[in-house]
Amino acid sequence: MTTTQDSPATTPPATTRRTPFDVERLLGELTLEEKASLTSGLDFWHTQPVERLGIPAVMVTDGPHGLRKQAASTDHLGLGNSVPATCFPTAAALASTWDTELLQRVGSALGRETRVNDVAVLLGPGINIKRSPLCGRNFEYFSEDPVVSGDLGAALITGIQSEGVGTSLKHFAVNNQESDRMRVSADVDERTLREIYLTGFERAVTTARPWTVMCSYNKVNGTYASEHPWLLTEVLRDEWGYDGVVVSDWGAVNERVPALAAGLDLEMPSTGGRTDAEIVAAVRAGELDEAVLDQAVRRLLTLLDRTLPALQGATGLTAEDAAAHHALAREAAADGAVLLKNETVDGAPVLPIDLPIDSAGSSLVVVGEFARTPRYQGAGSSQVNPTRLDDALTEIRALAGDVPFAPGFSLDEDADPALDDALLTEAVGAARGAGTAVLFLGLPARDESEGYDRDHMDLPARQVAVLEAVATVARRVVVVLANGSAVTVAPWREHAHAILEGWLGGQAGGGAVADLLLGVRNPSGKLTETIPLRLADNPSSGNFPGELGHVRYGEGVLVGYRYYDTVGREVAYPFGHGLSYTTFALDEVRASAHGEGPTSGVTVGVRVTNTGPVAGAEVVQVYVGDPEASVQRPERELKAFTKVPLAPGESRELTFELTARDLSYWHPVLRRWVVEGGEFRVSVGTSSRDLHGTVSLDVTGEDVALPLSPMSTVTEALTHPVAGPVVRAALEGTGDGPTLDPELVKMAADMPLRALVDFGMAGLDRAGLDRLLDAANAG
Ligand code: BGC
Repeated sequence: MTTTQDSPATTPPATTRRTPFDVERLLGELTLEEKASLTSGLDFWHTQPVERLGIPAVMVTDGPHGLRKQAASTDHLGLGNSVPATCFPTAAALASTWDTELLQRVGSALGRETRVNDVAVLLGPGINIKRSPLCGRNFEYFSEDPVVSGDLGAALITGIQSEGVGTSLKHFAVNNQESDRMRVSADVDERTLREIYLTGFERAVTTARPWTVMCSYNKVNGTYASEHPWLLTEVLRDEWGYDGVVVSDWGAVNERVPALAAGLDLEMPSTGGRTDAEIVAAVRAGELDEAVLDQAVRRLLTLLDRTLPALQGATGLTAEDAAAHHALAREAAADGAVLLKNETVDGAPVLPIDLPIDSAGSSLVVVGEFARTPRYQGAGSSQVNPTRLDDALTEIRALAGDVPFAPGFSLDEDADPALDDALLTEAVGAARGAGTAVLFLGLPARDESEGYDRDHMDLPARQVAVLEAVATVARRVVVVLANGSAVTVAPWREHAHAILEGWLGGQAGGGAVADLLLGVRNPSGKLTETIPLRLADNPSSGNFPGELGHVRYGEGVLVGYRYYDTVGREVAYPFGHGLSYTTFALDEVRASAHGEGPTSGVTVGVRVTNTGPVAGAEVVQVYVGDPEASVQRPERELKAFTKVPLAPGESRELTFELTARDLSYWHPVLRRWVVEGGEFRVSVGTSSRDLHGTVSLDVTGEDVALPLSPMSTVTEALTHPVAGPVVRAALEGTGDGPTLDPELVKMAADMPLRALVDFGMAGLDRAGLDRLLDAANAG
C-alpha cells in the first residue's frame, strides 16, 4: 500500500468559487467524463475540480480529535508532517466525559480550525464499537455501547458542522479490529448488527446529519462495505433518510462500478483517472445507469455548496483561538479522566493531594517517564501536530512547587535491562518516605496504533515492577494511566491507593491531570467500556480477530457489559464507573409505562443530589431490561444518560422519556423492531453495577404473529392466536386426534407441524394443515 508520496497537487489549481451552486443546471452542463471525475479524488486530500464550470476542488483531512492538514508529503497513516492544530483528547477520553454539551463545544473548536485552514470536511468522528479491548484503534473510538457512541458522536458532529464545514462519520460499518482490516469479512447476524453495530450510526445520522459518511475497508457478511447496497442504500439512505455523501475509506474501493451502484459517491484518494474511466465505459456500455452517476454527482455538488460559503476568506488559526482551544482541550481532558479508585489513608482520601505541600515539596514525589514525556495521542491517520504540549510534571510543579521526580523506567523498549534496574533503584530512593508518590504509567506508543491490534492488554512488566517497589517505601501511592485502550489493572491495583485513568488526553492532558491530582478540578469521567479482570473474560475471546479472512461475531448482542452483567462475571471496574471528590445520592426513582406496541414508552424520573463538600458532576444512567423476552436479551442495556453539574447540597429532578425503540429488540424473522409485552425493569444508576433504584413495570406490547408454515414448530403454532387453539385441542385429545399426555406434548414442542400431521398426531391431514395455515396467516 502507498504510504507516502509527494503531492504536487496539495495546492490544487485555483478555481473561482461560484456559490451558491445551481446543482441541477450544473448537472445538465457537465459531460459524462466530468461527472465521473467528480466522484473520485484529485490527489490524496482533494476532490476534483471542473474549472470551466467554476466547480472548485475542496480539501478533506483527518480527524478526528484535531486537524491533520498535511503540507508537503501526503499519507493516510500519520507519517508526514501537518500544520499545527489543537490536539484535543482522543475519542476514548472525550467519550469518558459523557458530556454532550462539552463535546459540541470541542466540535465547534475543531470545526473552526478546519474552516480557517480552508478544509471542507474533517474526517471523523469514528464511532465503531469497542468489541475487544485489543483493537488497535480503540483510542479513536467512543464506547462498547451504541447509545454512548451515537449520542456523543452526534454532539461532536453538530459542533463541527455548526462552523459550516462537514464531518465524515466513520467507519461504516462493523470495523472493530485492525487485523486484516482491508479484507476481513465481519460475519454478524442481523439482530446483532442492528442492535449493536448500526445503532450508534443510526443515532448519529438521524440526529446530527453528518455531511459525509465514510465506508469501512472490511466486508460485512461477505460483501465489501464499499459495495454493499443493503448497507449504503437500503439501511443508510432508505431507512435512515441520509442525504449526504458516502466517501470511501482511503483505498477501500474494491470494484468502482459496483461500488457506485451500491451507493458509494466518492472514491478517495485519487486513482489517477483509472476508475473514472471504468465508470464512463460502464455507462457507455449500458452496464451502469447514468442516473446513478448523476445522483452521486448531485450529492457531491450539494456537499460543495454546503461547505464553500464558510471557506471564503480562510485566514488560519489566530493566537487567541489557539490559546482558547488549548484551554478547552484541558477542560475536556480533565472531564474525561476517570477516577477508578480512591482509598482513604490516615483518615483522608488519597486524592486530591492535600495542599499546601511543605515548601520543599518533599512530601510529594513524581515517578514515571510519562510525567515529563507525555503520551497524549495514538499513532496512525489521526496523529495531530499539536500547537503546544503540556507535560504533567511541569504542570504539577506549577501548582505544587518543585517536587522531586524520577523517571522510573525508560520508554525505549529495547533499552538495556541494566538501565531499567538503575532507574528503578533511583525511583525507590526518591520515593522513600514520601507522603504521596504519584506514578505515571501507561502503554508504550507502539502498543496501540491504526493498522494492527494488540495481543494482550497488560502494562509493561517493568512499569509494574517500579510500582511494586515504590509502594513499599511511600505512604500513599497514586497511579495515573496514559493509554487509549483499556489495560488490565487487577494484577497490580492492590499496590495503588488511587488510580486515575487519564487516557490519551491530548496536548493539554498534562495540565488536566495536575488539576485533578491537586483538586483544582473534580473528576467526573466515567468508563465507556468495562475493564475486565483479564482479557480472557471479554466475550469476543475465541472469536477475535478471526482467521482465513473471516471474523465471527459469535457473542452476538452480548458485547461488553451486556455480557458481563448477563452472565454475572466479576469485572475490575464496570461500564459507567467513575469516582468523584464529592458524593451523590440518587433517590425517588420512578418509572411509568404508557402507550402500546410501537407507540409505547416509559417516563423515568429520579432526583440527584450532591451530598458532599465540593461542586461536582454526576452521570445519571438509565438501563432497561426485559426479563420475559422470548429471545435472549442482555440483563440490562443503557438507553439514556445525562451529566449533571451540582453545587454542594444542590438537587435536581431529572426526567427521561424512553421510546418504543428503547424497549425493542430487532426481530430477525419479521426484520423489524418489536416491543414484546410483559414485565420490563427500568434501573437508574451510576454504573451498570451500581443501580440506585429499579422499577418493575408492565408494558403493553404488540402481537408478534409469525407467518406459519408446515415447518413451524408445535410451540410456534401453540402461541399463534388462530392456529394455537386448534393445535392445542388436537394435542390434548379434545379434537379428533388421539389423546396425548403432557409429557408427549412437551416432547412434541419442537416438532414441525408437517411431522405432527404425518405421524397422525394432529387429527389433520396435509390438506387440513394447509387450510389451517391459510386461515392463520390470513389473520
Ligand atoms: C483511515 C481513516 C482515515 C483515512 C485518511 C484510513 O487509513 O482508516 O480513518 O480517515 O485513512 O487518512
